[in-house]
Amino acid sequence: MPNPDSVPSTPGKFKVEKYRLRWHSSPLAKLTFCSFIFTGLIVVFLFRSSPTNGMPSSTSQFDSSRRSLRTFSVREPAWEKRVRSSVKVRAHNGMTVLVTGAAGFVGTHVSAALKRRGDGVLGFDNFNDYYDPSLKRARQSLLERSGVFIVEGDINDKHLLTKLFEIVSFTHVMHLAAQAGVRYAMQNPSSYVHSNIAGFVSLLEVCKSANPQPSIVWASSSSVYGLNTKVPFSENDRTDQPASLYAATKKAGEEIAHIYNHIYGLSLTALRFFTVYGPWGRPDMAYFFFTRDILKGKSIPIFESQKLGTVARDFTYIDDIVKGCLSALDTAGKSTGINGKKTGKAPLRVFNLGNTFPVKVSDLVCILERILKVKAKTMVMKLPRNGDVEYTNANISLAERELGYKPTTDLQAGLKKFVKWYLSYYKTGKRGAE
Ligand SMILES: NC(=O)c1ccc[n+]([C@@H]2O[C@H](COP(=O)([O-])OP(=O)(O)OC[C@H]3O[C@@H](n4cnc5c(N)ncnc54)[C@H](O)[C@@H]3O)[C@@H](O)[C@H]2O)c1
Ligand SMILES: *[C@@H]1O[C@H](CO)[C@@H](O)[C@H](O)[C@H]1NC(C)=O
Repeated sequence: MPNPDSVPSTPGKFKVEKYRLRWHSSPLAKLTFCSFIFTGLIVVFLFRSSPTNGMPSSTSQFDSSRRSLRTFSVREPAWEKRVRSSVKVRAHNGMTVLVTGAAGFVGTHVSAALKRRGDGVLGFDNFNDYYDPSLKRARQSLLERSGVFIVEGDINDKHLLTKLFEIVSFTHVMHLAAQAGVRYAMQNPSSYVHSNIAGFVSLLEVCKSANPQPSIVWASSSSVYGLNTKVPFSENDRTDQPASLYAATKKAGEEIAHIYNHIYGLSLTALRFFTVYGPWGRPDMAYFFFTRDILKGKSIPIFESQKLGTVARDFTYIDDIVKGCLSALDTAGKSTGINGKKTGKAPLRVFNLGNTFPVKVSDLVCILERILKVKAKTMVMKLPRNGDVEYTNANISLAERELGYKPTTDLQAGLKKFVKWYLSYYKTGKRGAE
């Protein structure tokens, strides 16, 4: 078994298998491979060494060796030109934002919205295959058409991130890259540690050393409320009893944010999203695969909890979330660090972004039946103890007050828009909805 730290990282389930296979070949092959990579790295490093980007050589270069080797070759000058043109600011007083997870569901919408209003935007994503990567590629083309370039890389790749900060003076980072999903944590726990903890620290390390330091807004999750039964969930309620590893890594992120704010003066805002849905959404989420399975005539499971009847969620439409994200960026105070040293107190904020109307999953199915005009085959089952919580409901008064956040799309209207997108996206004939 190789040292997991040396495995070039992509958390997607298939990739992990592939690396295993490769590494489990003969020890000689392994040695040859290692020395090949090492020599390659030295060559690349020597080539790139210059007074301005002479990065200290360290073991962390191995973290991302494979990806870096591939992306190094396409880096300049055409690559750099694309980066620069992507971050061009058109609005007066516009911001320059690095959006991580830009090929993801929320990241695509946020990037497009920032670009539309004239901000400079650069995307960043590793296109992992946690779910169908062709959907991420389709979102990428969408962004490309509006002038947003997505750099392909892992947030654990500090050299690549540092390079980007050398080229661009980002005023803000919208950090949405993460291993999402609650149930998958039982299958691939290390992918959560890799992206949500190690990756977050790597990004913060680069941000704290950047001059000027950017302000950072990032996605936490309503799952940090875990097993709490007091509703609605308010920001200062306890968050020390998570029900899944996913939730635990988001909670860890909030604590990590605290120390980077405290020690280095980084301005940090955590947004606790409540079940976001909408066009270009995530295929691993219930509203998405319910739609697919209802259309296919496949039966869908509806989970019942002991206390509440069927499980309920505070579904939040993507456009409302995007407005919350933009206003969190707009109101983020400045970081205070210079050359990695804090020079004063910087803001540290946490906001719920929800919708305040929890809907039972059985009602979600009824709404989908009406929109799709198909009767669903359902089977009612006990909620398994796999990380899902029974009920979520946001208290959004803090976001209302500080961000002017006010969700306006109800589930019925939002699902209509989702279904419209779903049908047009998968009906082109070429794409199969798995
Ligand atoms: N959608 C929701 O309901 C919801 C709810 C609560 C919190 N969140 C959080 O919001 C954020 C965005 O969620 P989403 O629904 O858009 O998920 P998503 O999976 O569609 O987007 C995340 C993107 O990050 C990329 N990524 C993952 N690990 C990476 C890494 N190590 N380096 C570079 N890129 C990486 C993925 O390829 C993906 O495109 C995530 O942090 C998620 O945990 C989402
Ligand atoms: C909602 O949160 C605010 C703090 O932001 C708090 O003052 C208020 O009491 C909470 N409301 C409920 C019903 O919990």
